Amino acid sequence: MRFRRQGSSLVVDAPAKLNLFLEVCGKRPDGYHDLETLMVSIGLCDTLRFTPQTSPEILFRVHCVHDADARDIPADNSNLILRAARLLAAETGCRAGARIDLIKRIPPASGMGGGSSDAAATLVGLNRLWKTGLGCDELDRLAAQLGSDLNFFIRSPRMAVCRGRGEVVTPRPLPRTLHFVVCRPTSGLSTASVFREWRTGGSSAQQSDSLIRQLECGSVSAARSELYNALSDPAARLNSDIAATRTLLEECGGDAPLLTGSGSACFSLCANARHAWQVGRRMLSRSPGRVWIVNTCT
Ligand code: C5P
Repeated sequence: MRFRRQGSSLVVDAPAKLNLFLEVCGKRPDGYHDLETLMVSIGLCDTLRFTPQTSPEILFRVHCVHDADARDIPADNSNLILRAARLLAAETGCRAGARIDLIKRIPPASGMGGGSSDAAATLVGLNRLWKTGLGCDELDRLAAQLGSDLNFFIRSPRMAVCRGRGEVVTPRPLPRTLHFVVCRPTSGLSTASVFREWRTGGSSAQQSDSLIRQLECGSVSAARSELYNALSDPAARLNSDIAATRTLLEECGGDAPLLTGSGSACFSLCANARHAWQVGRRMLSRSPGRVWIVNTCT
């Protein structure tokens, strides 16, 4: 998450994430699933501008870089940005109000965490704008009430292991910049329906330790063989674009293409920047979906 001042406004870049590893450890009594996932934040960002208001109103406006995304961004009370702003105002008793302008680049329903990142940026950004003085632990508590992925973005590490529903975040060092080609097919997927489709395989749960070790010592080629997502099969059963996208990434020279989160976006971890450009250029000319050549956040 990056911040800058523009006159009286505060501007925040809210990054997308990729899941390099995701194991579903079981279904919980509250209906959620326990996870172990390894996430990295990447250079594809939404941008939020928070401007003070003279009234206690919270106004929200969105500009989608891709028109097709507009129908997936609710303008009512189910919007996570508005819920985050109202939760912070209610918890702190702040009546300052704000106008929130969002430039949306991260596609919704893609498993890239755009909605969660925007909501986390709203908690952190308005806490600064309003000078409400909440610490990271208090913001974490509010974040966990709004969704499972927000806590990763509150502290915005380059890489972290997330457990529980996803809200228990342990940052890990990432010495090397990682290079990816990401492709979001033309159709998206609902997180809840992918989790509903998941069935336990019965075998013992996979762990992220070995992948983390490879990444921490900078060995990308060894890391590639450890990438894993337990939601790949359920997501592919619900949306045939997933298998097609992974095949296309492979045909374009991407190694071990994987689903991120609950999809529908897929990515390849590339050997270096040059490899990512080669794969990305081929994908740009062949994929009907959207393609990005991106790095982990610096
Ligand atoms: O937490 P979030 O609102 O992003 O989750 C959306 C939906 O995904 C939940 O309502 C739940 O159905 C499913 N989910 C889950 N287990 C998780 C995270 C999400 O079952 N750890």
